[in-house]
Amino acid sequence: LRTDLLGAIDAAAGLEPLEAVRVHALGKQGAITGLLKTLGGMSPEARQEQGPRIHGLREAVTEALAARKAALEKAALDARLASETLDMTLPVDGVAAGSVHPVSQVMDELAEIFADLGFTVATGPEIEDDWHNFTALNIPETHPARAMHDTFYFPREADGSQKYLLRTHTSPVQIRTMMADKPPIRIIAPGRVYRSDSDATHTPMFHQIEGLVIDKGITLGHLKWTLETFLKAFFERDDIVLRLRPSYFPFTEPSAEVDVGFTWQNGKRVIGGDPRASENGGWMEVLGSGMVHRKVIEAAGLDPEEWQGFAFGTGVDRLAMLKYGMDDLRAFFDGDLRWLRHYGFSA
Ligand code: PHE
Repeated sequence: LRTDLLGAIDAAAGLEPLEAVRVHALGKQGAITGLLKTLGGMSPEARQEQGPRIHGLREAVTEALAARKAALEKAALDARLASETLDMTLPVDGVAAGSVHPVSQVMDELAEIFADLGFTVATGPEIEDDWHNFTALNIPETHPARAMHDTFYFPREADGSQKYLLRTHTSPVQIRTMMADKPPIRIIAPGRVYRSDSDATHTPMFHQIEGLVIDKGITLGHLKWTLETFLKAFFERDDIVLRLRPSYFPFTEPSAEVDVGFTWQNGKRVIGGDPRASENGGWMEVLGSGMVHRKVIEAAGLDPEEWQGFAFGTGVDRLAMLKYGMDDLRAFFDGDLRWLRHYGFSA
């Protein structure tokens, strides 16, 4: 039996025939199993003689099975390694990668430009209270500017007041920063803002970036230089021409709306150039700005005799449209990959 079994193990050409030999020898009905069962019915003398022989046989067969199995597995692996080759020089299939949305990209660009000018990034809550969004910015209860903002309000408080709202601009971050930090202050505050308004150039949610400088002896000259430097860096052109138009914001005095010159090129407005020097251009409004109103500095707990500054605010989405030649604001928030691809923002 030993010779038969060991011979069969050696002859097994694969794992399956080998398994058949194992079952034949050691399975429930196996030959060796059967021999082991006979031990119980033997006389003690016979058992003493046969026991070691049968157990020795079982061990030898078990070992031979394991050795043959290992040899067969190694042979199978060697065969696979020999037949399968991996060409590391083949080009890989394209991997779909995400990309940075134009609005996020512009916010990153702005943060970088202002970082070079010594500004840090500040943030505030999108769910804002009436005091930070309006009152502290010199827009009291009865002020007509409140109506201009198309505010999304939260339900009234028990006392009938409308305390919470979705911030309508990033200007409340001015107040929060002045109250939290000691001057001198140089911050920008990018973020989402909300107004109940929707058409090709307005979405109920859009992005603004606020700028605030508070220090001693700050003038309109500092404001103009800062905006000019920033717009030149942002549009990557040296021929950016600014026009500051007197305007009105409750939280700045004096206030100025800032226009930049553009030139018509292939039916598109391209920022740059001096509209006063050519027929082929015009002015485009890009920013609101001004010297921070003394009442605002006071509301934030600072002494307006000691501290002055300037502030500005602008729409990030609008800046992105101008820089990348996009024409429908709503497309920014559709999540349509074809649109992103068209403007080079996705692979
Ligand atoms: N907060 C103003 C707006 O939403 C913009 C602005 C900011 C104007 C700072 C002046 C100073 O339109």
